[in-house]
Amino acid sequence: MDDLRHDPELLGRLRDDLAGAEYTVAGVEERLGPLAVAALHREEAVPALRATDRSGTDPSGPDPCRTLVRAFVLGRAVARRALDAALPTVGTAGAARLGLAVAAGADPDDEVRAAVDLRPYTASDQGGSVDWWIASDLGELATGRSLRTDHVLGVGGASTTLAQVTVRTPRRRVLDLGTGCGIQALHATRHAEAVVGTDISGRALEFARFNALLAGESHRIGLRLGSMLAPVAGELFDLVVSNPPFVITPRSPGVPAYEYRDGGRAGDAIVEELVTGVGAVLAPGGVAQLLGNWEVRRGEDWHERVGEWLDRSGLDGWVVQREWQDPAQYAETWIRDGGTTPERDRAAWEHQYAAWLDDFESRDVEGVGFGIVTLRRPVTGAPTLRRLEELTGTVHQPLGATIATSLAAHDWLEARDDAALGAERLTVAGDVTEERYLTPGASDPSVVLLRQGGGFGRAVRAGTALAGFVGACDGSLTVGSLVDALGDVLGVPASDVAADVLPSVRGLVEDGLLLVV
Ligand SMILES: C[S@@+](CC[C@H](N)C(=O)[O-])C[C@H]1O[C@@H](n2cnc3c(N)ncnc32)[C@H](O)[C@@H]1O
Repeated sequence: MDDLRHDPELLGRLRDDLAGAEYTVAGVEERLGPLAVAALHREEAVPALRATDRSGTDPSGPDPCRTLVRAFVLGRAVARRALDAALPTVGTAGAARLGLAVAAGADPDDEVRAAVDLRPYTASDQGGSVDWWIASDLGELATGRSLRTDHVLGVGGASTTLAQVTVRTPRRRVLDLGTGCGIQALHATRHAEAVVGTDISGRALEFARFNALLAGESHRIGLRLGSMLAPVAGELFDLVVSNPPFVITPRSPGVPAYEYRDGGRAGDAIVEELVTGVGAVLAPGGVAQLLGNWEVRRGEDWHERVGEWLDRSGLDGWVVQREWQDPAQYAETWIRDGGTTPERDRAAWEHQYAAWLDDFESRDVEGVGFGIVTLRRPVTGAPTLRRLEELTGTVHQPLGATIATSLAAHDWLEARDDAALGAERLTVAGDVTEERYLTPGASDPSVVLLRQGGGFGRAVRAGTALAGFVGACDGSLTVGSLVDALGDVLGVPASDVAADVLPSVRGLVEDGLLLVV
């Protein structure tokens, strides 16, 4: 990409052309088929190349959607006449003017090549579904070359993870720190009055502005150049989202530092800085959600280090560790991500691998965690939420609403001591089932699990009293009456039942397995 042109009129026409070509996620999936789509997710282009090869030879003329996939996703040359047909009002000339494509000449048979990746994106949220197009730098699959260090990333797995865990309640001001191509900022326009996107990369901001204009949302996104919180110092936001450059990278010669993933700090300092510092820009009640990696040092549990960050943040904090990798697995993941593989360049691979292991050894790192961090500035008073948990199983995205409900349930519980909780009525959420495990021949289960079908897909082990309590939660009796009745049935004082089950009941309410009537 030399220069993207931010011409609102031309971009408005481009939007119409792209929609007319059925260049949507559904349209592309229909043309490519599941096999080619899945292969593309693995960065394998051959099936998609075969599926789009018909673009120029079809007797009915080139299929516009296939032409666009071939040019803007696969990075292959297409005939000028094919791109003119795919973008009937913008044409190849307009695409070139916007900085999207470069034409070899003006003849209809001349080749045109994409200068950027431009692909459809779809999402649904509380307001319905949206179709956008996201421009970013062409990836390795299209160029066949390693990425440049100022590469601007398109929408990746981490981007969608963050978008899906984001709490999407109506907000006045939202900050997207490290906006990149602007995808989180675009999502925020759906539930915020004003959005600020920041980035250390001027190129990223060019793409973000282009994408905001193409989506027709530029009037609600302000973009600012600068590092971390500097561009918004002294301001307050109701929601901060960040998919920051959290990859831990050795600062050694011969190890490239990619702007999109490497924040330029040693170890996990960038995530620490964000977790401990973001409170400075959070309005009371404001929420910050970010993804991150953290180092697990020898002799420490992962939650000690991250928990200490939470303590320093002065905020409510909830961390879900989703993955853990040992230093070798981590090094392999990120060296490959940068385009170096042992097959392509064994010397570079071994050099980088050793640099990663040296770097981890220098800080006694035994592993690296990856997870989702949710922080919240209490409306008043001191933080009450401090939760660090490991959930590596399948979760049911989008989790944004689950996280919002859980935060609200936490506040509800905080406002009630056990006596007040005793006066409430609860029901079992519709997605909860009970699993009983019996030793063959036994009449009583040795293990009872309460399993959540949605959300985080939690499984909670329940003893006799808790299983009895939950089984009776149909909203007709108060918590206190249920505890009394269980005491009678089990032949123990109600106070013992309360001490046994109420802490777990609180957990089930906070996690949405029990609902307040
Ligand atoms: C992993 S990308 C995330 C892009 C996008 N928000 C998403 O969710 O896909 C991280 C972004 O942070 C930017 N970045 C790197 N260092 C930064 C810093 N010190 N301050 C702000 N942004 C930074 C990079 O340029 C990049 O655009």
